[in-house]
Amino acid sequence: MSDSRAIGVFDSGIGGLTVAKALCDLLPNEKIFYLGDTARVPYGGKSASTVERYSSEMTQMLIDQGVKLIVIACNSASAVALPTLENTLPVPVIGVIKPGAQAAIVATRSHHIGVIGTRATIKSGAYERALRALDPKIDISARPCPLLVPLIEEGWLEDKLTDSVIARYLQPLVQDGIDTLVLGCTHYPLLANAIARFVGDKVAIVDSARNCALATRELLDRQSLRAPAGNGGALEVALTDPPDIFLRVAREALQLQIGEVQLREVLHPARAS
Ligand code: DGL
Repeated sequence: MSDSRAIGVFDSGIGGLTVAKALCDLLPNEKIFYLGDTARVPYGGKSASTVERYSSEMTQMLIDQGVKLIVIACNSASAVALPTLENTLPVPVIGVIKPGAQAAIVATRSHHIGVIGTRATIKSGAYERALRALDPKIDISARPCPLLVPLIEEGWLEDKLTDSVIARYLQPLVQDGIDTLVLGCTHYPLLANAIARFVGDKVAIVDSARNCALATRELLDRQSLRAPAGNGGALEVALTDPPDIFLRVAREALQLQIGEVQLREVLHPARAS
């Protein structure tokens, strides 16, 4: 059995393209329909109920698009909205948290794992729950790093200022004795080199994008949803607001081929603050 429909990928904005890239690399035969809520990004500083509301609207748009499976390529949305989406969506849905937690448990030797992400992700405690479900005795040092997303969106991936922000956020985690660091935000793989430079080779870096793609492949196989041979993989991108400079940054850093970006309208644009 096979299924030629697209995989729907949802993110609060452009950062989830790190997951789309990992999916394209791992599943070159699959069509990917990526939907980024650029009209309302960032989700990381918003309340859980707002992130849940936005996430259910965006995933409904993917259902209307006719996708066969939905990947929540956003840690903030996965952290707070995944349980509800799993119970309400008519197609299988997968987030980034569980695959990242599983990979971290495999990687750690000292049983002390660091987790970084947006405020919404860290405040939700979703990584702690996922990690402790796998190993109740695990030590966890978690820290929100809200300045990293704007630095990445500015394209300052190799920059002294970014290096010093990374050092300021990560120094306490390294001092705590972590030997594994989960990049719990889909933007952060774009800073993987800079983060690795700071933490050194004694700390394993777990990229939730790649692990989410591996878990998606497993789920497709389990549910007999893989595209037939010769399906011809492609990446379509739709956003809820016209793209800004970050699309160019991500496209170049990830070497992604993206055709014309489509626009979709959201029912409830973000309120002006
Ligand atoms: N994509 C979000 C995440 O992975 C980061 C950007 C945002 O705050 O919306 O948490």
